[in-house]
Amino acid sequence: MVVLLLFSLLLAGALSQDAEPIRETEIGRQGGFVALRCGFSDVTWSKNVNGEQTDVKTLGDRRYIVTADGTMYISRLKEIDAAVYTCTKFDTPIKEVTVAMAARPTIAISPSDVTVHVGALIHLPCEAQGDPKPTIEWRVGRSQLRNVPVISDDLTEEEIRNYAGGNFLVTEKGHLYIRDVTPGYSAQYICMATNDGGSSWATSRVLVLDPPKITTRPQDTNSLDADIIGIACRANGNPNPKITWRVETFENITIVEPENHPSGRYETDAYKTLRIRFPLPSDSGKYICVATNAGGVTEASAILQVLITPQFREPPKDAWVPFGGSAVFSCSVFGSPTPVIEWFKDNQYLPFSQTYEIQHVTRPGEVQERLVFRSIQFEDTGFYECRASNLAGTSRHEFSLAVTDATPFPGDRFVSDALDYAQEFVQSAIQETQIILKARFNAPNFNPTPQDLFHMVRQPTRQALYMAMSAEVFEHAMDYIHEQIEALNVTSMERNNVPLGSLLSPEAIDHLEDLSGCHRRKRQPKCQMRCQGMSFRSHDGTCNNIKHPTWGSSLNKINRFLPALYENKYNTPRGWGRTLPSARMISQRLIRTYTTKAHSQFSVLMMHFGQFVDHDLAQTVAGPSETSFAPFLRVRCEQTCTNTMPCFPIEVHSNDSRIDAACMPFVRSASICGTGDTSVFGKETRVREQLNQVTSFLDASTVYGSADQEMETLRDRSANKGQLRVGEESIPGKHFLPIEDNLIPEEMESDRRCIGRAATVFLDCFIAGDFRVTEQPGLTTLHTLFMRQHNEIAYNLAEVNPQWNDDRIYEEARKIIGGVMQHITYQEYLPKVLGVEGMEQIGDYTGYDSDVDASLLNEFSTAAFRFGHTLIPPTLFRRGKNYDKFELGDMPLHNSFFTPYRLLDEGGVDPIIRGMIMQNLKLPDGKLSDSLTERLFHVVAQVALDLAAINIQRGRDHAIPTYNDMRQVCGMRRALDFHDLQGEIRNATTRQLLSELYSSVDEIDLWVGGLEEDIVEGGLVGPTFRCIIAEQFKRVRDGDRFWFESDKHFTQEQIRQIKKITMAKVFCDSGDKIEKVPVDVFMYNSDAHKFTQCKDLPKFDYSAFVDCGGADYLRYQSYLYDGTPGSTDLTGTSDAISNGPRTTTGTFGSTLTPGGTTGSPPDEGTGTTDSGTATTDGGTDTTDRVTAATDGGTDTTDRVTAATDGGTSATDAATEGGTLTGGRGGMEKTATTVVVYPTPATSYAREDLQDVVTKDPVETPANPIEGRADSEFDEAVVARLTVRDDLEALMKSLDEMNRQLDMLNYKVALVETKAEKLEERMLVEGGCLVAGKVYEQSERWNGDECTVCTCQGGAVTCEPNPACAKLTL
Ligand code: HEM
Repeated sequence: MVVLLLFSLLLAGALSQDAEPIRETEIGRQGGFVALRCGFSDVTWSKNVNGEQTDVKTLGDRRYIVTADGTMYISRLKEIDAAVYTCTKFDTPIKEVTVAMAARPTIAISPSDVTVHVGALIHLPCEAQGDPKPTIEWRVGRSQLRNVPVISDDLTEEEIRNYAGGNFLVTEKGHLYIRDVTPGYSAQYICMATNDGGSSWATSRVLVLDPPKITTRPQDTNSLDADIIGIACRANGNPNPKITWRVETFENITIVEPENHPSGRYETDAYKTLRIRFPLPSDSGKYICVATNAGGVTEASAILQVLITPQFREPPKDAWVPFGGSAVFSCSVFGSPTPVIEWFKDNQYLPFSQTYEIQHVTRPGEVQERLVFRSIQFEDTGFYECRASNLAGTSRHEFSLAVTDATPFPGDRFVSDALDYAQEFVQSAIQETQIILKARFNAPNFNPTPQDLFHMVRQPTRQALYMAMSAEVFEHAMDYIHEQIEALNVTSMERNNVPLGSLLSPEAIDHLEDLSGCHRRKRQPKCQMRCQGMSFRSHDGTCNNIKHPTWGSSLNKINRFLPALYENKYNTPRGWGRTLPSARMISQRLIRTYTTKAHSQFSVLMMHFGQFVDHDLAQTVAGPSETSFAPFLRVRCEQTCTNTMPCFPIEVHSNDSRIDAACMPFVRSASICGTGDTSVFGKETRVREQLNQVTSFLDASTVYGSADQEMETLRDRSANKGQLRVGEESIPGKHFLPIEDNLIPEEMESDRRCIGRAATVFLDCFIAGDFRVTEQPGLTTLHTLFMRQHNEIAYNLAEVNPQWNDDRIYEEARKIIGGVMQHITYQEYLPKVLGVEGMEQIGDYTGYDSDVDASLLNEFSTAAFRFGHTLIPPTLFRRGKNYDKFELGDMPLHNSFFTPYRLLDEGGVDPIIRGMIMQNLKLPDGKLSDSLTERLFHVVAQVALDLAAINIQRGRDHAIPTYNDMRQVCGMRRALDFHDLQGEIRNATTRQLLSELYSSVDEIDLWVGGLEEDIVEGGLVGPTFRCIIAEQFKRVRDGDRFWFESDKHFTQEQIRQIKKITMAKVFCDSGDKIEKVPVDVFMYNSDAHKFTQCKDLPKFDYSAFVDCGGADYLRYQSYLYDGTPGSTDLTGTSDAISNGPRTTTGTFGSTLTPGGTTGSPPDEGTGTTDSGTATTDGGTDTTDRVTAATDGGTDTTDRVTAATDGGTSATDAATEGGTLTGGRGGMEKTATTVVVYPTPATSYAREDLQDVVTKDPVETPANPIEGRADSEFDEAVVARLTVRDDLEALMKSLDEMNRQLDMLNYKVALVETKAEKLEERMLVEGGCLVAGKVYEQSERWNGDECTVCTCQGGAVTCEPNPACAKLTL
């Protein structure tokens, strides 16, 4: 303590002696440290901050450390440390140390970025200033350049280049030289100047350019049969080269970059390999790979040859030509490269002759030579050959020329040319369309136009496509023949008045039919008369009417009320050549509306269900080609404003409010060759007719499809329970429709992509019996409900009938669903469309009438039933669980086309069902919402379609008669002028507009006139549409053998059950979780409190459908008369049987009333009247039979006649008497008994069975032939006696034989179906064994090549086939 005190005193003395602190300066550098020494311990260091002394301890900066000896260290120096620091002891400043920071160097000269070529000398200058003098070092990226020789700054460039050492040199001042650079020297170079004050740097980016070098060169490629071709090209260089492609096709020397290629089939992958999908000959050309970088451009090219072995578009045909006549054999071949044609006669090169010349036409990829004979001589007879060769191979075609006497048929000589012409232009246009559509819909960057979506609702099935193609070829060939004949002035008659038979010989017509494909397309359905065929509908509707098996079937001709109204009388539409008001103009001025009025009574379900019904009945087959057939104007319909088959564009006026184009695209519907029950055109010239792709029966074809193939795709056979395939679950147990997937067979193969929530995302669509299913969510909902309803019914039927197999359950459930559809349509829907009078026109149901044709009427589908388009609101409502607001809101119509996600992702079907109930129907005021006229099928920023304009144009395309024509048919007066329309169109403004649009009242299109009529009381249409719609629905009911109320298919009890299923019940049963509904869901009802609970709706009683397994049930089900003598008649009433001889009477198809209209059967041979009645009702020659009857068995001759009328001769009747000869069933009359034999044919009409019920004679008559002398008669009598004795046995064996026959027929049908299928498959896959028969040849289309396949020893070899080009698509 004493020592310390002493020391303090000494120090104080010392300090007081020298009061000024010692001053020092310390220089620090960034990041370094300084030590400030004080010389005393226990001192305080302060820092002068802004003029104030602050104890460093209070600064809280850990870099300041004062040690015990009083030294302060400041580490990691920063700029802020530059200050004056004072060391103080006993409050006396001892030392003041100024800390200053050394300055970092500054870069005086910095290098800039350099781009040079390989081998260059690079000079990167860099100089720095600073104190102390900075040193300079160089870095490349992160690495320091070491051991770099230092050279004088004064060296010349030459000296530097030659200086010994490596590539890097640094000058004394710090400049860097890099010599002989390669791309590897490309880098960032850093000049770093350093001194005590720190470092500064400057950078230079050096790029040593290396021009592209192609490492993988594109290879010349010959492609045959490839689906995709890849042409690779790789390049390197510095910087990495970019590869682009240029295509110079041989055809048109256009230069296109692949991505911009108009076909959309070109793409490049990540490695820039060029890929061409579905290569066509037109793709042949030079493919130039262009590699580019900053150093330059390098190109390499390859030649692509898309090879196609020569194929005959249509090879020359055999010809028989009159002596001195002329003939042209056209050999038109395509192939790639373009083939060369050579001609041979009798296996020798064609010898020189004065009588012919060869004309030559070549287009890229195609060559046509015509061997033209001007004046044929007999020595020209022979076998000729047209041989075509190219790199890919050789094809030959032989034909013969026979010289005959003159022919009277002027058209014959043009047949071959006509077919050449038609096939060339029609088939190639169709092929092109199919290829383009396939490519478009499969493109990874699919971006649909409204036309694409439109295509999705008008898509022909493959079968329809073939039919349509044949029809077009036939029609165009005929056009050609007519033109040629007219040019020769052979006939000046109007074409449609010239019978085909007078123009062409029968052989030529056959030839035309055959080669156009029409012959093959004729359908002659074979109807099964037992079991399946009698109990259940076919899927395609054939054999519904047994006398006319194609009536009402799918792919059948659409009928007409009135003759077709074509501008040229046979195939060009009104407005084709002459002026009619533009359909778009009518739509804009008269039909479009932006405001809609609500119907006060009906719900919008009327619209949705109407569309569902429409799709059950009608789907006009769309034209197979969207490219024109014109020989020299091959253009896509969407790119032309010219009428050129099949393009019929809709004119757009310059003042159009929306569309800035001269026209809207429109493609004509397909036409039909002929139906199964008539020959092609019945050998008559006839007008263009359209065809229906679906059955026109109301048979729920929307659920099951209109062809067996469709049905197979839709059925779920896995559980053997008659179920339909389903998709995802919506809620447990309730499924959505299945989604289109790879299971779809080619038949149903579709160009379909649906729209996802983001309009640019595309998904698979749902599948159902009708491919328009996803067109709008309401329609999709109804499809879903009926699919579920089927499955529910099938499930329950299987429960009560465990012995039934998959098919039986499926068919029985389908039968019920058909009945439900019919019941709802006629009980709930139609009365609201037609009103009371319209329903009276349909009348009560009185039974099936086989003379009624239930086929579609063109006026119905192309005009009247399109009234439904006026019912469509611009927005579709959706409602929540309690019919309140739905959280996702309503659906604007224009955002709802083809959107399955509206169901899948937005709450299932229930919100839409409730919306249908709670939304008023749009008032049918003759107007269509702008959603349909301005925004139909628009996706993203595309020019949308106009449904009203399409409807009008379609009416013209289909040659629908005018409104005025139809008024007359419907019992109204023909209007003389526009004012005269006031009875039906009261609105004067509408009449005024009509008069401004149309030049005459006779021009008004049916759809327009009908739409504008005032609505009939209680209905939704005017009188003209009412008349058409009522007639169609009457036919659909009365002409349907399977109509549910016809008492042949269901018991009365079953019909009662079916009638319990209303639309409300369908909503309840098949909705996701609908709990309450109005009883009539077609009526608008806004008060959900008054709705009925689903559980309170009538229950469907499945016990009515229990099959007890007895013969009765089966007989009932198949409503077959089983042929057993003594069995009951078809009505189930059996009273006639007790009354002696039993003749049963009745008109065709009618209910049989035993005993005939007189009420009693003929007795003991005296019943003339009765027999007469029976005979008349039998439907054949009354007189003879009456005579037979009158004679009461005493007149031999008459009996013979009677037998003849029965369809067999007397002798036959007598000797064979039931031994199954052909005919309608004969009739024998004995003194006491009338015996009518059933038709002993392999198949017989159901109606015939109903007319002629076989009964055995109850009593053996007293010898009926006593006293006869006539020997012929005696023979007959002996024979008849034999027959009579054995009658019972005979009938039994007859029955057995029939049964076996049916079985046989069934098997034959099966085999035939299989054979057809195999044959079909052969077309695609090739093959040789079909239904046990070896086929020598088959044809197949394999990519782009058409081949003939020959079968030898079970192996198939295929060669190019000239003949099958016409089959291909
Ligand atoms: C949102 C609802 C609907 C849309 C988007 C729609 C759209 C279409 C389209 C695009 C066509 C093809 C036109 C042609 O090219 O000729 C068509 C045809 C037709 N529509 Fe509609 N439609 C709807 C509702 C209805 C309704 C409610 C009915 C009747 C009650 C109906 C009856 C018809 C008829 C009869 C055809 C002709 C069918 C044929 O023969 O192919 N449509 N519809």
